Amino acid sequence: MELLVIGASRGTGRRLVEQAVRQGHEVRAMIRDPQQAAGLEGVGATTVVGDLEGELDHAFEHVDAVAFCAGSGSKTGPDATLRVDLHGAVRTFDACAAHGVQRYVMLSSIAAGDPLRGRESIRHYLAAKHAADRILLASGLEATVVRPGGLTDDPGTGRVRLGTPDLGERGTIPREDVAAVMLACLERPTTVGAVFEVISGGTPIPEAIGAL
Ligand SMILES: NC(=O)c1ccc[n+]([C@@H]2O[C@H](COP(=O)([O-])OP(=O)(O)OC[C@H]3O[C@@H](n4cnc5c(N)ncnc54)[C@H](OP(=O)(O)O)[C@@H]3O)[C@@H](O)[C@H]2O)c1
Repeated sequence: MELLVIGASRGTGRRLVEQAVRQGHEVRAMIRDPQQAAGLEGVGATTVVGDLEGELDHAFEHVDAVAFCAGSGSKTGPDATLRVDLHGAVRTFDACAAHGVQRYVMLSSIAAGDPLRGRESIRHYLAAKHAADRILLASGLEATVVRPGGLTDDPGTGRVRLGTPDLGERGTIPREDVAAVMLACLERPTTVGAVFEVISGGTPIPEAIGAL
């Protein structure tokens, strides 16, 4: 599988690149800064420079699947959240349609199903994620929406707790485990159409994803 990872420079996307390469996939890592290429090429990915707020169409040529791991980050205001997490995401759905890419796994957020569940200070962010998820699910792409709890840089445990679509509780999860969940979804066509929240738990990832 030729996998395009958007938001590949760091965080969950960087971990997904490394895991997918180790699983034998061809990985194209989309980055904004060419200086980030060496590190990603060093782990066996190819790189493409693109920006969710600029040129990105060329990144989708000859791709089999897309994993969206980008985000404007917690230090930016609502305007950047709209431009990256919502409009940037929608532009990638259009690029998939234009290039015949069918498979798409979205890294969304816990509580994106109901932004009013979130703290007032992040409701604009949850609303952006909510809208992007809905547009993706209505797009005709073969989509899976992964909604993790608070992300940590702890080592992965390989064990999770899933709620379809809601968990009804908060929690955290290492980025490494979210990447493993996304990769497991990409490898299992039965997850097409699935929308779920995920935090750390006791179920091995293959078992949890296999049950979807
Ligand atoms: N933090 C949490 O607790 C939490 C919880 C649930 C869900 N999430 C979501 O999970 C996702 C990943 O979060 P993370 O903390 O693992 O990642 P992160 O460290 O915040 O990295 C964000 C990535 O998005 C890229 N990016 C930002 N703006 C971009 C643009 N205009 N065009 C292309 N790429 C762009 C960044 O690239 P640069 O290096 O160029 O900046 C970076 O690779 C985000 O969507 C976030 O909202 C986060």
